[in-house]
Amino acid sequence: MSEVLISPSILSADFAELGVEIQRIDTAGADMIHIDVMDGHFVPNLTFGPPIIEKLRPHSKKPFDVHLMITPVDPYIDAYAKAGANILTFHPEAGPHVHRTLQAIQAAGMKPGLALNPGTPAEVIDPVLDDIDLILVMSVNPGFGGQSFIDSQLRKIEVLRKKIDTSGRDIVLEVDGGVNRETAAKVISAGVTAIVAGSAVFRGGPDQYAANIAALRSGASE
Ligand code: DX5
Ligand code: ZN
Repeated sequence: MSEVLISPSILSADFAELGVEIQRIDTAGADMIHIDVMDGHFVPNLTFGPPIIEKLRPHSKKPFDVHLMITPVDPYIDAYAKAGANILTFHPEAGPHVHRTLQAIQAAGMKPGLALNPGTPAEVIDPVLDDIDLILVMSVNPGFGGQSFIDSQLRKIEVLRKKIDTSGRDIVLEVDGGVNRETAAKVISAGVTAIVAGSAVFRGGPDQYAANIAALRSGASE
């Protein structure tokens, strides 16, 4: 099996120098850049939107893995494409027309992803398995970095792994929330192909980014 991809969440970066932080994690070995967009409405926190993402775009050639925690989604899809998002992931609870939103993301030239909250069942993806390129399993309730991993999500990852294998499609299975060196080992053996991590990548400051990313990738325990 190929190595797990690491997508550092810039939610834990220094917001006063986001461009430099993205260059640092790129150099440190990040495979993608995870960008958490929050609207203070779908989740109880606010971050950033297309104008900031557009300004960040020149700082890395790695894919921008944009995680929308906003509602509605559809009116903003083109703005994220123009800003330089490569993968655009949203939550099915954000609107009633999940399939339409997936199609619109694809039509705008991005890869569509679907994010499942801890309380959202794996079966939500069944009708749209042919229309998604990424499944994001939330292992915390979305809104904040630095929360503890919810163990019950390991079972959901295993179920989704089987569904993807059965489909034969090349779908990234990504986990997001509370992933550190210890929980990385568990999610990797449950079948993820990509890990999002905020605190576990940025802790210790820039000198530690490369070691932190390597440790997550190898699933090494503390
Ligand atoms: C939470 C975000 C995550 C968050 C993860 O709503 O989707 O991407 O940044 O942070 P850690 O890795 O610190 O749990
Ligand atoms: Zn996220």
